[in-house]
Amino acid sequence: MAEVKLDFLGDLRRTHSCGTLRASDAGQTALLMGWVHRRRDLGGVIFIHLRDRDGVTQLVFNESENREAHQRAQELSSEFVIAAQGTVRLRSADTVNPAIATGEVEIAVDKIWILNESRTPPFPLEENVDVKEDVRLKYRYVDLRRPHMQRNIIMRAKIAFAVRQALYEQGFLEIETPFMTRSTPEGARDYLVPSRVQPGNFYALPQSPQIFKQLLMVSGYERYFQIVRCFRDEDLRADRQPEFTQIDLEMSFPQEEQIFEVIEPLIFRVCEAAGHAIEKTIPRITFEEAMRSYGSDKPDLRIPPFHCVEDLFPGAGLTPEGLPLVAIHVPKVGHLSRKERDELKAFGQERGLRVYDDPKRLDRDFPEAMAQVRERVKPAEDDLLMLAGWGGAVEGALPERTALLACGQLRLQIAQKYNDRHKLLDPAVLKFLWVVDFPMFEWNSEDDRWVAAHHPFTSVHDGDLDKLETDPAHCRAKSYDLVLNGVELGSGSIRIHRRDVQTKVFAALGFSEEEAKRRFGFLLEALEYGAPPHGGIALGLDRLVMLLAGESSIREVIPFPKTAKGTDLMCEAPSPVPERQLRELGIRLAVKQ
Ligand code: AMO
Repeated sequence: MAEVKLDFLGDLRRTHSCGTLRASDAGQTALLMGWVHRRRDLGGVIFIHLRDRDGVTQLVFNESENREAHQRAQELSSEFVIAAQGTVRLRSADTVNPAIATGEVEIAVDKIWILNESRTPPFPLEENVDVKEDVRLKYRYVDLRRPHMQRNIIMRAKIAFAVRQALYEQGFLEIETPFMTRSTPEGARDYLVPSRVQPGNFYALPQSPQIFKQLLMVSGYERYFQIVRCFRDEDLRADRQPEFTQIDLEMSFPQEEQIFEVIEPLIFRVCEAAGHAIEKTIPRITFEEAMRSYGSDKPDLRIPPFHCVEDLFPGAGLTPEGLPLVAIHVPKVGHLSRKERDELKAFGQERGLRVYDDPKRLDRDFPEAMAQVRERVKPAEDDLLMLAGWGGAVEGALPERTALLACGQLRLQIAQKYNDRHKLLDPAVLKFLWVVDFPMFEWNSEDDRWVAAHHPFTSVHDGDLDKLETDPAHCRAKSYDLVLNGVELGSGSIRIHRRDVQTKVFAALGFSEEEAKRRFGFLLEALEYGAPPHGGIALGLDRLVMLLAGESSIREVIPFPKTAKGTDLMCEAPSPVPERQLRELGIRLAVKQ
């Protein structure tokens, strides 16, 4: 970099931000500070777009008006940090810039101070830049200056503020819970922190504050919330990070209805803060209905449901006895070529389905049944209609669910693949939904045992308590998910508050009395000291902001995210540690660093 003489900030103070000046300010003196966004040198006149968090203001350096300021402006390059003082004046009609809020004015600069220089940024700080995500993440502090990242991070702050407002108004207290703790069972692996003073012992970073928030209810705080970081060592996807943020809350004495009464106004307020107008009711369906209509526990309501029509084809052999035959309907897909239909068939087959992709043939072979299918589905002329049954052997503890899930995937695949035709998957359309009455247990075929569908502290439906031991497959839980556009936004439940019930659920999950005591002894004990009925929910803040910002990855709304391999490319974490540090912790590595 060429030598540039830098100035001190001294006691200089901004009078305005770069987004505030308007025509009515003409004639005022202003002192602005920010970054050199763009520089245009026309010889005798230099134009600078000065940028700060609030916007952009045009600075003008005219050699004939102020030779000294003009000379210094020649030293400026992209992303230099400067202060500029001058007079606000109206732009001539032909140079007004309607694209920016300050576009009617400019500042005729008398004096500038160069507060810091900058290397040439690794990529242009524009809305759309063609740059690899790895490079963006390595220079994240530069990437975060780009307009869309600024919008996302500012929206995130506004959403967090709206959440706090909504919850404080409803009597919730913000209470912190520890990060260095014991394992919390949310289904992922723990991140462990070794103890130096107790060698061989480890803290676990919390997968959620679940147990602590329940203990706070035992302690009588009644309404708790926290916007809190959670840590999970699991395979990463576009909507998963190893550390992420939850809007976590818990209440004493609630029915499920009361949890909804807290969350719904919070959601409406948050949407408003993010600039979205949405319907002020959130529909509810049961898990069973979600499966039978969408083949998913997180249905995307922007696409119409499918229909189970096995009752219309008795003995036809299109699907095995007792398993669903599904009519998939996606509007406006139009005519599919042979190749496109074969692709969808193959997609279904890979998931165990037999796909009947030719409605004309079905009409010929099953005219009456197909007339009734059309009566139920009511497809328009250019809508896609196909049937899918189960094509493989009937396996697993819940074959019907397996078949429905596969049909749900096929429905989504069609909708996503042909979105350019029907345009139903518009990110600006927000379809919230509560899914309720989840099953209490899920069959884990790898371990050959039942596992908690939500977590092991979830209450069973009052009517299903006696099925815990005899019929776990049909126990319904008092648990609920909030879904937005096919993404699970939040999950919660009414908890078990009685020690005897908790012991029964641990037993149904295959925990021995001893293991339950070893892992959760403190919680079991707390339940014996006057635990009130309680329940709560946690919403994923990152996912919420992602969807409200119209992004398809949570990395776009997290200031410093990690890659799919869990790497922070900027500070190069995780990283090896010096041998001495490991020795202090009593750790010897089995792998070479
Ligand atoms: P659950 O495990 O369903 O429930 O998590 C709640 C919500 O947190 C978000 N979430 C994630 N977001 C980004 N990256 C991840 N790796 C990730 N994992 C989860 C999702 C999810 O819906 N303690 C219970 C809540 C309760 O019962 O109150 C819990 O953590 O949006």
